[in-house]
Amino acid sequence: MDKLVIRGGNPLLGTIRVSGAKNAALPAMAAALLTDEPVILENIPQVRDIETTRRLLAAMGAEVELGYGRAQHRTTICARTLSSPEASYELVKQMRASSLVLGPLVARCGRARVSLPGGCAIGARPIDLHIKGLEQLGAKITQDHGYVEATADRLKGGEIVFERITVTGTEDLLMAATLADGETVLRNCAREPEVADLADLLNKMGAQIEGAGTSTIRVRGVSKLHGAKHRIIPDRIEAGTFIIAGAMTGGDLNIVGCDPSHLAALLAKLHQVGVKTAQSADAVRVMGDAPFKAADITTEEYPGFPTDMQAQYMALATQAEGVSIITENIFENRFMHVLELVRMGANIKVEGRRALVRGKASLSAAAVQASDLRASASLVLAALVADGETIIDRVYHIDRGYEHIEEKLKSVGAQIRRIGEILPKKAAAPAARP
Ligand code: EPZ
Repeated sequence: MDKLVIRGGNPLLGTIRVSGAKNAALPAMAAALLTDEPVILENIPQVRDIETTRRLLAAMGAEVELGYGRAQHRTTICARTLSSPEASYELVKQMRASSLVLGPLVARCGRARVSLPGGCAIGARPIDLHIKGLEQLGAKITQDHGYVEATADRLKGGEIVFERITVTGTEDLLMAATLADGETVLRNCAREPEVADLADLLNKMGAQIEGAGTSTIRVRGVSKLHGAKHRIIPDRIEAGTFIIAGAMTGGDLNIVGCDPSHLAALLAKLHQVGVKTAQSADAVRVMGDAPFKAADITTEEYPGFPTDMQAQYMALATQAEGVSIITENIFENRFMHVLELVRMGANIKVEGRRALVRGKASLSAAAVQASDLRASASLVLAALVADGETIIDRVYHIDRGYEHIEEKLKSVGAQIRRIGEILPKKAAAPAARP
């Protein structure tokens, strides 16, 4: 298993380009299941979850071509025939977002068999709202042996009111409704930019969707969708992570190829903390070594403060004067990074869904391990300012959602390298008996 070795202390100077959004690319790849024509997706990030999705779709019979070389950020998917509309436990356990194929498969093939995701480091994360929604569109659902089976001759348009806001739940039902008979109204929807990006792709494929990006989405079902070409939006969470890296290291960093309008809640909070930034249409520049002031955050659905930036913000809060109260409202177990940060010298107390971060702490390097994608990003941020050389284990978590993070950080002056697991030397073969 790879590790990252980071020597802290260098200010980050220069320009980093943001990749396409993982959380927009995954539903877009699932959407290709809705048509028998090719769907070309550009600005696809080279992260492990994309590879897992490629294998998921290929196992169903879809042709998935991941570009390489100059075309490395392009993917062409053609689900002409879907011999087995199934998502196996082997793949779903690696990536919960696999449940995004449920709606498209039952809508296109009239049946789907998808493994239930099971537990996750950051919370229970059930998919009951996906299932309830499909039932409201007329699907017959059974569950056994850890799998959900959904069947329907043709889904029927209807009204779905989500009991709680769910990002992939909204995306899953949005995709299912595109091929349903009649109109579907989705209420209390997620308003994340990734949902609007998906609707943009679906409308290019011939769907009739209005209101994506708001709480109410209307979908007039059509009998068939066609192929399309679509460029995925930039990754606002990757951009946010690098903005905090620039701030914490007292650098002068230009994060380009992002959409600052998707980062409004984060930037507003960073300005409150004392971080200096300048924005343009597709870039954020973070400058200087300003002292940071503590400020509280509460994670919320978009456009509120994103839960996927909570861990990274906590790393910054360890460097702010005073006590920052961090309240995690979306996932019930998203403080796995706390004890690792404490191992590096941070002063953090957890009380239920609140973490009290007392700063400014002088962090010292240590051997730490990542538990999930964003937790690993917060450890990288802490290591960039810690005294000495930090070794972060289990970085496969970070590879799930950050494209070549060590190369990007190294290109702006970070002392970071990846080391493969040093396999114990094979014991010498016993001398051959005479
Ligand atoms: C999406 O997950 C993102 N993943 C997550 O990003 C992100 O943290 C999350 O939205 C919240 O913003 C992708 O887009 C692939 P939810 P999702 O359904 O859709 C509960 C990252 O780091 N819920 O909006 O799975 C659920 O347990 C990842 O990139 C139900 O109870 O999240 C949670 O408490 C991590 N029943 C809350 O709703 C359901 O059927 C919000 O979850 C669905 C969700």
